[in-house]
Amino acid sequence: MAAKKVNVAILGLGTVGGGTYDILTQNHDMIVRTQGLDFCVRRVLDRDRDRVVARGVSPDAVTCNIDDIVNDKEIDVVVETMGGVEPAGSFIAKLLESGKTVVTANKELIGKCWHKLEPIAKAHGAGLYFEASCVGGVPIIRTLNESMQANHICELYGIINGTTNYILTKMTEEGLSYETALREAQQLGYAEFNPSADVDGFDAVYKLAILSSLAFHTSIPYTHIYREGITRITADDIKSANELGYVVKLLAIGRREGNRIEARVHPTFVPKDHPLASVRGAFNAVLLTGDFVDDIMLYGRGAGARPTGSAIVSDVVFAAKRKTHEYTDFAVSDKPDAGMEIADDFTSKYYIALTACDRAGVLAQVAKILGDCGVSIGTILQKEGKGEHATITFLTHTASEKAVTEALARIEKLEYVRSIDSLVRCL
Ligand code: NAP
Ligand code: HSE
Repeated sequence: MAAKKVNVAILGLGTVGGGTYDILTQNHDMIVRTQGLDFCVRRVLDRDRDRVVARGVSPDAVTCNIDDIVNDKEIDVVVETMGGVEPAGSFIAKLLESGKTVVTANKELIGKCWHKLEPIAKAHGAGLYFEASCVGGVPIIRTLNESMQANHICELYGIINGTTNYILTKMTEEGLSYETALREAQQLGYAEFNPSADVDGFDAVYKLAILSSLAFHTSIPYTHIYREGITRITADDIKSANELGYVVKLLAIGRREGNRIEARVHPTFVPKDHPLASVRGAFNAVLLTGDFVDDIMLYGRGAGARPTGSAIVSDVVFAAKRKTHEYTDFAVSDKPDAGMEIADDFTSKYYIALTACDRAGVLAQVAKILGDCGVSIGTILQKEGKGEHATITFLTHTASEKAVTEALARIEKLEYVRSIDSLVRCL
């Protein structure tokens, strides 16, 4: 049987768009043979015509005008790899309105505007796919949608940002400074255009909003997710973690118990023998727990042209094979569903480091406040500092976030405490 001809357009031929183009062209014959789909990249929209042509795209196929793609009835699927909310959002809305299926890697756009775009797709019978928006080449969305239907998913723990995992790994294993490791991640094409998106945790929050909504079948708007990035993690934290048997990871955590949901992104001390501790460099992993399947872990490259291009092409193939498209089983919204609580408090063990005057009674005052707030101490270590100051580190037993925050606010006001240097949650 002849392969089905499918015309594709790509918006933005940068890192990920370039990887997608390379797969569609270099693996074209294999895809014809194995999937029965004959992909042709008919149009590319990009600002830089010369760069696109240098990649091998015919000059006639390059445009700067989205209407050339919207109005081209021969184009079936459009890949959006420009990034950002605008004009990508308006372009996608126009394309969906014209009945074209859109495949995107844009977690910021889906994280912020999913609730606007999905109704447009539905109303026009168009597909909206975004496997590549989360966890690079790892088929996490397909797994949630197509393989975990039998389960209530109760927990999701993920390393879902390649840049921060790369930086933390380099700081841990090679003693690189934060700045050098970030520069390397940018040179390797992992980092977002604005590094704040990665290092301040926004990228992971958008991804967690998408993944936890799909995992828990309810809207978890990104605005309701606790966010803390890695910029305050110091070489001392990494060293202390190591001494205490942990590694530092930026974790995305989603948990559901009845109608109560926790959703948070923050640096975490992960025990060295935990499966997520061995996820190094730009690799990502997601550990899911379902009520029947128990734990499953997906692992792979979380960023970069080729892995992300792989996820995009898998969506293009998936979309091209469907006669009709499917949508979420819950109403995507920018507010939590009625009756669902997205908790602003949770429990954890904590690593705390502070600098205080090295004199009698200070430690007792600090310990008393922790005790008064219901925070029980597991381990204390005092390191002699320079001059009259010492660094004191604590590992607490499980305590509530609110109790720890309250205790630290009071400790910070003590006369002989100079600074609270670190507060890191432990898994
Ligand atoms: P990129 O390398 O900067 O590529 C974006 C391309 O789109 C560039 O060629 C850019 O041109 C072009 N472009 C942007 N705005 C445009 C406009 N208004 N009109 C015409 N062309 C425009 O970015 P990327 O790293 O590939 O990321 C693309 C998307 O994939 C983002 O949503 C990102 O979050 C997502 N993503 C990236 C990765 C990764 O590993 N990099 C992984 C997963 C998902 P200029 O260079 O001239 O701006
Ligand atoms: N900047 C993102 C990351 C790209 O580092 O994970 C992949 O989404």
